[in-house]
Amino acid sequence: MNKKTIADIDVKGKKVFMRVDFNVPLDEKGNVSDDRRIQMALPTIKKALEGGARLVLASHLGRPKGVREDKFSLAPAGRRLGELLDRKVPVAPDCIGSEVEKMIDQLQDGDVIVLENLRFHAGETKNDPDFARRLAEGVDIYVNDAFGTAHREHASMFGVPSILGPGRRVCGFLIEKELKYLGQALTDPQKPFVAVLGGAKVSDKITVIENLLSKVDRILIGGGMTYTLFRAQGYQVGDSICEQDKLEIASNLLNSARTEGCELVLPVDNVIARELKPNADHQAVAGNIPAGWRGLDIGPETCKLFADKLADAKTIVWNGPMGVFEMKPFDAGTKAVAEAIALATDNGAVSIIGGGDSAAAVAEMKLEDRMSHISTGGGASLEFLEGKQFACLEILDDKD
Ligand code: 3PG
Repeated sequence: MNKKTIADIDVKGKKVFMRVDFNVPLDEKGNVSDDRRIQMALPTIKKALEGGARLVLASHLGRPKGVREDKFSLAPAGRRLGELLDRKVPVAPDCIGSEVEKMIDQLQDGDVIVLENLRFHAGETKNDPDFARRLAEGVDIYVNDAFGTAHREHASMFGVPSILGPGRRVCGFLIEKELKYLGQALTDPQKPFVAVLGGAKVSDKITVIENLLSKVDRILIGGGMTYTLFRAQGYQVGDSICEQDKLEIASNLLNSARTEGCELVLPVDNVIARELKPNADHQAVAGNIPAGWRGLDIGPETCKLFADKLADAKTIVWNGPMGVFEMKPFDAGTKAVAEAIALATDNGAVSIIGGGDSAAAVAEMKLEDRMSHISTGGGASLEFLEGKQFACLEILDDKD
């Protein structure tokens, strides 16, 4: 995809509706506890303001069910944006309605307003044409910089640009960057291309594995999904998480990897414990996991093996933790993989961290600066790796 960006259009004096993904976590005091998504949208927001746009920012936060719930207000995100921009950023009481329209009409060139949560209206997630029409009212230019929401065909993501029509709908710099890294990895990767996949369930990653088999040289698999693959190979997995109804699919995946000539690397040892609690008694075992024990992380030999398999990589995609990384001592595998990816990146690899848990692990280890790209999309980056097409991005104007 080669999409026009905000840099390709004149926004001076125009009413610009910018869809951002300010779906950020809040702490118990109601403040933004991780502002990465806001930070990542800043270059596009600044470009619009410096260009003299009358900027209307729209986002969802959480999953309210079409009615106002204060805990899902975008006010904290607006406050944080104000701090980052060092100016007061008003937050409208709603995203549509006469009062909001009046506030928007009063914007001067270079002013910005944040609309209240789009999902306070059921029309957003339903892509209701009437709701989309109300959002699009008086809009001159539509900018989409909400990569994290790119897999949702909602009113603000698809309905509004559909109404505006060609010539007035572009992407922001964040989406441009996400498409550059994720798109290039899938279409024109430098080899060896290594994917590292983790997470609890094999069912969440089947389509990603299937799509990557023909593209990557190696797939390293860790996390809870390992145990379904082990079971499919006939090993005992004790009390480990195991999707009994996915054993056949798991077995087919192992066969497909062989046919495609893709090296599928499974853990050679696992850290097991009788119970999942901090600092629980644990040990590393190879092969069968005894009854009463469950696998909670990849083992030390696997950490070495995975580091070895990553060392010569030129492109790396990582999605999903290797164990229960939020709990010591089951965080060691995820940390070892993060460190190995950082090292490979130091040595010239392009590393792409799929959002969510892997991004959180990288942030906790303060390795962000040593990775090439950390995606702001959790579900979106996963669906991108599955090879899905995003209608909300396709609808944006192509570069000439
Ligand atoms: C995300 O956090 O993945 C995006 O903001 C999309 O949120 P959703 O899964 O609630 O649509």
